[in-house]
Amino acid sequence: MEAQIDSLRAEALAEIEGAGDVAAVRVKYLGRAGSITLLSEGMRSVPKEDKARVGKALNALRADVTAALEAREQTIERARDEAALAGIDLTLPGIAPQRGSLHPLTQLLDRAVRIFRRMGFALAEGPDIETEWHCFDALNTPAHHPARNEQDTFYLPDGRLLRTHTSTVQIRTMERHVPPVRIIAPGAAYRRDEVDATHLAQFTQMEGLYVAPDVSLADLKGTLEFFFRELFGAGTNVRFRPHFFPFTEPSFEIDIQTAALGGKWMELAGCGMVDPAVFEAICDRRLDRVYDPEKVSGFAFGFGLDRLAMNLTGIPDIRMLVENDLRFLKQF
Ligand code: PHE
Repeated sequence: MEAQIDSLRAEALAEIEGAGDVAAVRVKYLGRAGSITLLSEGMRSVPKEDKARVGKALNALRADVTAALEAREQTIERARDEAALAGIDLTLPGIAPQRGSLHPLTQLLDRAVRIFRRMGFALAEGPDIETEWHCFDALNTPAHHPARNEQDTFYLPDGRLLRTHTSTVQIRTMERHVPPVRIIAPGAAYRRDEVDATHLAQFTQMEGLYVAPDVSLADLKGTLEFFFRELFGAGTNVRFRPHFFPFTEPSFEIDIQTAALGGKWMELAGCGMVDPAVFEAICDRRLDRVYDPEKVSGFAFGFGLDRLAMNLTGIPDIRMLVENDLRFLKQF
């Protein structure tokens, strides 16, 4: 029996060494009808005094064959991995993914939106292609007003136009929502301006509108002063200069003076109290008179973001904001 064990070990180990199909060899020796299993059945006829010794030898055989099978399996697996990696240099540096960043205009817009949201303003939007009514008539801007001139505005063949300001969203909002409304509307505006270092034919504006039963000029001043001080720092000076807009009365231009913009006074925004004529235009449309100028009042404001972004980042030419030159964009 012990001689059989030794010769079976030699046979099995020799076969395992060159085996391609390890699973088949395992069945051949260790399976239910495998040679080692069958040999173990001979234990029954081993004399009592030899049983312990022969049993031990059988266990050792099983352990040796099992270990040899495992080793062979690993060798085959390693060879397969090496073949798969042949020709690949694992020491080469990887390809680092390019990290993008937000456009300076987007960064400014995000900051502005966050400040107004904290004051309870919701985001609103309207279409870039507008009717003359939303862009001018409803905003108390009569047919002879220069803003409506062909030379200043992009008209479409069907009479619609690219909105010349985001004030259209004031009208769109009041058409659809009952007061109180408190919205900001960032978006594109278009004018037939000659494009140069300080002008673009498409630019970005942010509109604001607050309408409720008792909105006052003090609310307008407080809101915008808070906004500009949040945006540029507590030391920012804000100045309201009387002006004219057809859709607000009284109207103001806002200048600010801040270290962030070099300490010089800079004209930044237009604003005012919503003109009763605007509320009347909405009443004509809605028919429910919830915007009756005797019952509600409101303020509106609007400012351009491009020139602001230009001054904040210190770039010399506003066109850099739209050229998508990576050498420029990567700096932000
Ligand atoms: N729409 C005006 C402009 O484009 C700005 C403005 C908005 C003024 C709201 C007053 C109130 O110049």
